[in-house]
Amino acid sequence: MELTYQDYLTILKEIKQQIDFEPEIGVVLGTGLGNFANEIQVEKVIPYSQLSKMPKPTNSNHSGEFIFGYLNGIKVVLMKGRIHYYEGYSTQTCVVPIRLLGMLKIKTLILTNAAGGVNFSFTPGDFMMIEDHISAFVPSPLRGTNIEEFGTRFPDMSNIYDAELTQKIYQRGKELNLPMQKGVYLQFPGPQFESKAEIKAFRGLGADAVGMSTVIEAIASNHMNIKTVGISFISNLACGMSKRKITDEEVIEEAKTSEKNLITILKEAIQISHDK
Ligand code: HPA
Repeated sequence: MELTYQDYLTILKEIKQQIDFEPEIGVVLGTGLGNFANEIQVEKVIPYSQLSKMPKPTNSNHSGEFIFGYLNGIKVVLMKGRIHYYEGYSTQTCVVPIRLLGMLKIKTLILTNAAGGVNFSFTPGDFMMIEDHISAFVPSPLRGTNIEEFGTRFPDMSNIYDAELTQKIYQRGKELNLPMQKGVYLQFPGPQFESKAEIKAFRGLGADAVGMSTVIEAIASNHMNIKTVGISFISNLACGMSKRKITDEEVIEEAKTSEKNLITILKEAIQISHDK
């Protein structure tokens, strides 16, 4: 059963009872950014398990908590513990934490993820600013009854990833000599990695990177009129592009190697979103 608006209000009240804090920027921490909380001055950690009706991540790399705090004086809320469609939840349920970030009145949402590089010019370790996306066989999180308090039935999707902010973060990354790219992110349902034929087909259709999250979150975020930014960390080349098999361990290993860069680009993204 999908949550009603009343359910959302109940969860919001439970959060507000623990901390009265209006974060300006929300961040979804993708693979490799689990330690980002160490970079902020933490005010409060609220595990999803303390909130009623919250879906719980089943993936051991994603613990499931909201972390409230300050980065250089900027009020942020980190979402550590993404809910993936492949875990068996509906896409509507996957975006429940995103809905709550919206209800906490964040102005900007920064989505991060690890993704496979589909574009031949990408290398593991690169960062791709997401300019647009394609959803492949993943149902819309807006399917079903529309909650008017969140947004309109038929939201526009012509500037999903705020073009101006995206360009500014890209430029700043370049100035810092980070391996920056731009492109289109494609979400597959997973949990299996893609086949060679799928990657070849979707490269032809315009995909530059592929993953199993983010598109549905960006749709929900746009539905709520939140300025949205997406940063993919290219952890591996997609299926068929190298001789190696793709494994979750490789994805995590590569993210560990690039942890310093990941932290740098995310800090810059938060600062730029605030300054804008
Ligand atoms: N495919 C899908 N999801 C991913 C990949 C990939 O190659 N790498 C990291 N997440």
